[in-house]
Amino acid sequence: MNLQQKCFTLGFILLTSLMLWGCAQERKEVAQEETSESAETQSEAKKTNFPNKKSELSLLMRSMWDSLDNMREDIQNERKISDLRAMFKGIHTATPTDEHTKTEVYEPLAVAFNQNLEKLYEAEGKDMQLKAYNLLVESCMTCHEQQCPGPMSKIRKLYVKNED
Ligand code: HEC
Repeated sequence: MNLQQKCFTLGFILLTSLMLWGCAQERKEVAQEETSESAETQSEAKKTNFPNKKSELSLLMRSMWDSLDNMREDIQNERKISDLRAMFKGIHTATPTDEHTKTEVYEPLAVAFNQNLEKLYEAEGKDMQLKAYNLLVESCMTCHEQQCPGPMSKIRKLYVKNED
C-alpha cells in the first residue's frame, strides 16, 4: 500500500465507525424512551397481549385518546373545539400491530365512528355537544368491544358523567 491508499483506507474506517456510532447512539435513545414509557404501558400491554405495540394504528389511537381528553375540557369550558376530522379519518388506513386485528366488522364500525364525529361538529351549545361527545366515546367502545377489549377501561374514563 502506498501512502495515498493508506490514507484512503484509514479515512474509510473512520467514516464507517462514525456512522455506526451515530446509529448506536440513536438506538440507545430509543431504548431509553421505551423504558421510561414501559411502566405506563406495561399493564395495558399485558391486558391486550401486544407488548410494546407501536403500530401506526396504535399511535393514532393514543393521540385520539389525548385529543378527546382535551376536547371534553374544551366543551365543558365552552371553548371552541378543535377539528379532529382529518386526523380521525386515519383509522380507515392505519396499519394495526397484527394484520388480523382488523376483521370484517372493523370498517363499518370505523364509518359509524366518523359519522358520530361529524354529528359532534353539528351539535350546538354545551349540552348538545356533551351528548354528541359521549356518543362518540360510545362508538370508540363499540369497536373496542369487538376488536380490541384491552384499552376499554382507559377509554371509559373519557365519558362525561351526568353530574358534570
Ligand atoms: C373501528 C374500530 C376502532 C375505533 C372506532 C376506535 N378504536 Fe381504538 N383501537 C382499535 C384497534 C383495532 C386497536 C389496536 C391497534 C393495534 O393493535 O395496532 C386500538 C387501540 C387503541 C388503544 C391502545 C393504543 C396503544 O397501543 O396504546 C387506545 C388507547 C384506543 N384504541 C383508544 C381509542 C379511542 C379513545 C377511540 C375513540 C376516540 C377509539 N380507540 C376508537 C380499534 C378502534
